[in-house]
Amino acid sequence: MYTFALASAAFLFLLVGQNAPAAPLTPEQQLGKKLFFDPSLSEPAGQACANCHAPENGFSDPANRVISPGIVPARFGNRNAPSIAYAAYSPRFGFDKEETVYVGGQFLDGRAASLEAQASGPFTNPLEMANPDMKAVLAKVRQAPYANRFNKIYGRDALDNEHTGIQYIEAALSAYERSVELNPFSSKYDAWLAGKEELTAQEQRGLEIFEAEDKGNCAACHPSRPAKDGTPPLFTDYTYDNLGVPANPDNPFYHQDRRFNPDGAAYVDKGLGTPLDDATQDGKFKVPTLRNIALTAPYMHNGVFTTLEEVADFYNSRDTKKWPAPEVSTNINKDELGDLKLSGQELDDLVAFLNTLTDGYQPIRTSINKVDTPYDHAANPLLN
Ligand code: HEC
Ligand code: HEC
Repeated sequence: MYTFALASAAFLFLLVGQNAPAAPLTPEQQLGKKLFFDPSLSEPAGQACANCHAPENGFSDPANRVISPGIVPARFGNRNAPSIAYAAYSPRFGFDKEETVYVGGQFLDGRAASLEAQASGPFTNPLEMANPDMKAVLAKVRQAPYANRFNKIYGRDALDNEHTGIQYIEAALSAYERSVELNPFSSKYDAWLAGKEELTAQEQRGLEIFEAEDKGNCAACHPSRPAKDGTPPLFTDYTYDNLGVPANPDNPFYHQDRRFNPDGAAYVDKGLGTPLDDATQDGKFKVPTLRNIALTAPYMHNGVFTTLEEVADFYNSRDTKKWPAPEVSTNINKDELGDLKLSGQELDDLVAFLNTLTDGYQPIRTSINKVDTPYDHAANPLLN
């Protein structure tokens, strides 16, 4: 359990909130979107950010891929690509002295302090977009059809200077990641919080189980209520935990070229322990948002679980059923999960609630209530 006021997050919400729901992107955000979807920015060409963070999958990996292939054949990263929607709300990486926990940052191990710092990572990661350096990316952006937009937004000859040119690329991408497209707050649960929609009896029960300390206790790490300043719930407190998640034998990273994985099948992902070089943090990963969780399977840093039912079962019975050994057996959270004593019905309820967190929800009642307009089959979202 962790309580922390996200001041910058509140500011961001004001921006997003003012623009919501269908405001156009700012010119800088539009430019960032061009970059985000541009497959010419990898080496060789063919992979855009969006290939691993697909909008229709909550900005995570498409098609149930455990691990995204890199642009160079037979290269794979070590982790399942997370949803990057709402990643903009993560505070800068730091240590909270009062609560004595690490919090915030980008990547599942927090190794980039901010979105701007994160952006150069995938471009130059040999297992992802594989450019030799950011200079090479800048050269490609200079040739792109949208290159002159940089001048309009950042000033004349914006891409001429190497140092600032790269900074502008990072700024534009981050601006898009902060835009309403990645932060829409348009789920059924948001509509319910706003008093505009009702949850079904089962979803309501699931919410209660999610929040109750003597039931699921999920909200202890995945907060489900608006913050005091009005920021809608982000379903993460951005802290780090080792849940004792099993290793995933199907992770293609194990069979990676030795140059990229010298440990072969013995590889262990130590999470936060690696960038901090601190064994007391081994196995801890950043608490992910649960927004759009129905769209982002498989689950956990290594994609070991394929369904939400399986995740719920794991939280409920980690300590009572014979799950495979944890990937990292030190620093496991033993207080808040592992033996929740939830019934099968309660687990189903929990999953029903998680399914209300998908953005783009259209309240059905409002259209049905308009009986004065003729019923139009083609326009009924339920039938399409
Ligand atoms: C080959 C697949 C792939 C590509 C291409 C890719 N990413 Fe990612 N992305 C990942 C994976 C995997 C992670 C998690 C990695 C980790 O934690 O070490 C990640 C993490 C992130 C995060 C951190 C999210 C969080 O909650 O901590 C952000 C932000 C992000 N990516 C943005 C981008 C941007 C911007 C681009 C394009 C410049 C991009 N990604 C390209 C796979 C990819
Ligand atoms: C002690 C903090 C904590 C509690 C309590 C907790 N979680 Fe999590 N949750 C995490 C962390 C940390 C991860 C990522 C672990 C990893 O990748 O190894 C995670 C991951 C998940 C994921 C997978 C997300 C993804 O993108 O892959 C789901 C789903 C989830 N939790 C749901 C729940 C539910 C439901 C409950 C209550 C039964 C719950 N969590 C309780 C910390 C917590």
